[in-house]
Amino acid sequence: MTKITVKANGPYLVTGADVVDETGASFPVEAGKPIALCRCGASHKKPFCDGSHIKIGFKAAEGAAAAKK
Ligand code: FES
Repeated sequence: MTKITVKANGPYLVTGADVVDETGASFPVEAGKPIALCRCGASHKKPFCDGSHIKIGFKAAEGAAAAKK
């Protein structure tokens, strides 16, 4: 099962999925390990998170409980 965990003020952690580019070619990832995908736009290794969200002070929207209101 694919699971996407939205980290507070950080990346999306994805398990159980392949990451492919627009041609369908897979990015090399370590099997069985979570993949951190950038959602702040500042990574120099897109689509992967490189920790730049910390440097830029990325502030994300609130969590799922707040989104239900
Ligand atoms: S979320 Fe980590 S570099 Fe963008």
